[in-house]
Formats: sequence, C-alpha cells, structure tokens
Amino acid sequence: MAAEIISGKELAQTKRNEIALEVQKLSQEGIVPGLAVLLVGNDPASRSYVKGKDKACKETGIHSLMLEYPETITEEFLLGEIDRLNQDPSIHGILVQLPLPNSINETAVIESISPEKDVDGFHPINIGRMMTGQDAFLPCTPFGIIEMVKSKQISIEGKHVVVVGRSNIVGKPVGQLFLKENATVTYCHSRTANLKEMTLQADILVAAVGKANFLPGDYIKEGAVVIDVGVNRLESTGKLVGDVVFEEAKEKASYITPVPGGVGPMTITMLLHNTVQSAKNFALLSRK
Ligand code: GUN
Repeated sequence: MAAEIISGKELAQTKRNEIALEVQKLSQEGIVPGLAVLLVGNDPASRSYVKGKDKACKETGIHSLMLEYPETITEEFLLGEIDRLNQDPSIHGILVQLPLPNSINETAVIESISPEKDVDGFHPINIGRMMTGQDAFLPCTPFGIIEMVKSKQISIEGKHVVVVGRSNIVGKPVGQLFLKENATVTYCHSRTANLKEMTLQADILVAAVGKANFLPGDYIKEGAVVIDVGVNRLESTGKLVGDVVFEEAKEKASYITPVPGGVGPMTITMLLHNTVQSAKNFALLSRK
C-alpha cells in the first residue's frame, strides 16, 4: 500500500496563518517580534535560505532585519555586531546563517548570541536546557519534525526511532526530542556497522545524512514512518531529492515526507514560532 504523504508545505501554511494572527494581536499591544538574520559571504544556498526566512517574516508581520557582510569581515567585527543586537530591544531573535567562512570560529559566534535570543536553538545553554527537559528554544528542523509526526496523530511512545546522521543541527537533537516523547532511540552514522539491519528495525526512520537517494526501499520496514531531512540537488538533472529513494520508500512506509515540500517549509515556520515566543518572553520579563 502506498504511504500517506505528510505535507510540510500544508502544515507550515496552517501554522504560519496562526502565527500571523498572533503577531497581529501582539502588535496591537505594542509588541512587534523582531528577527535579525546575519549572512556572511556569498554562498548561493545560504543566500537562498536567508531570503526564504526574510520572506516568511514579512508574510507573518514579524520585523525582519537582514544583515549581509562580505566574506572578508573579521570574527571580532561579527562579534561586535552580535553584541549590538543582543542589546537591541527591537530584536528578539538572532540567527547567524551557517556555515561561516573558515576564518571565523563558528563556536565562538554561536556562544556570543544571548541564549534568550538564540531562536535557532544552537547555543550550548539551549542545547543543555533541551537535554534536561527545561524550557528552551528547540532547534527548528528537529522541532518541525516532531510537529509533523504529531500532526498525523502518530503515536511516538514506545516506538523505535532510528536516526541516520549525527549533526549538531539535526541528527543529535532530533533523537533527544523523540526520547523526550518516550521513544527508544538509535543513532546511526557513517561508521555504523550493518546500517540496513538497523534501519529495518525503525518504526520511525529519520534520514539526515545529506546524501542523495542514500536509503533505498529495502532499508525500510513495512509500515514505517519515514522522515526525509535531505535536501540534495542532483547534478545530472538539477532536481531536488531527499536522502531516501522516495518512489521505493513510499511503497513500504505508512507515512512519508516528500522532498521538496516536506521538512524544509517546517524549519522556517518553527523559526517564526521561536521568534514570537522570544518576543512574548521579553514582554513578560519587562512587566515583572
Ligand atoms: N545552515 C543550515 N541550516 C541552518 C539553520 O537552521 N540555521 C542556521 N543559522 N544556519 C543553517
């Protein structure tokens, strides 16, 4: 039986409509959520992601401050810019688009963002808060994945979630979020012995390796939920494909996310959500 598609595009639109309403209400109280997005250099993929974030902010009424810097700026200069935004009361979220040029220490930059404005959820303080079950900004892609699974009333408790990929942005945190939902979580990666044996055990399979068509249909258990985080452009055709061979996987899975139109649109939506949450946090603090 063919899988049911989990459309991130549709869910993202529903959530963005809700966010726009909330922003409108907050604005009437004099609170306009503000997001600063910093882009260093000219990487075309990064530029396109940043544009998408700016457009989504504008569509939901969030104040968006786009800051672009040449590849040649120093780390010291960038840290100065972040410090200025940390102090700016009109800005509730600060996002530095990654990757940064090699001359700039990414860790130092992430750690310089105020944890209360770290709407990407990349600061070690937010990662620590997330892992210990405290209130935290959740990283946007993992947060979006959990929302997609929940939107279909798929039960997570007691399920075996197999995450393929161990990046700090997706693989590691998504496993933590599923653990919090009482799943049993296995992490697989490039050094995993017998990957197929592992993925075939997955009730929920998260593919976050960044390799086009890396997981074929025979790696997927009948009835599994397949979440494809991959965004890979095929050199031969220019087509966007995921980490999973979609046409094969959809014959095995019960639910599957497409590429494009799956996880991608949810990532930006959760960024908007985190920015609004941050604006509300600051408003509450100023009332105290
Ligand atoms: N580069 C790729 N994904 C992301 C993301 O979610 N946030 C930031 N800041 N950079 C990225």
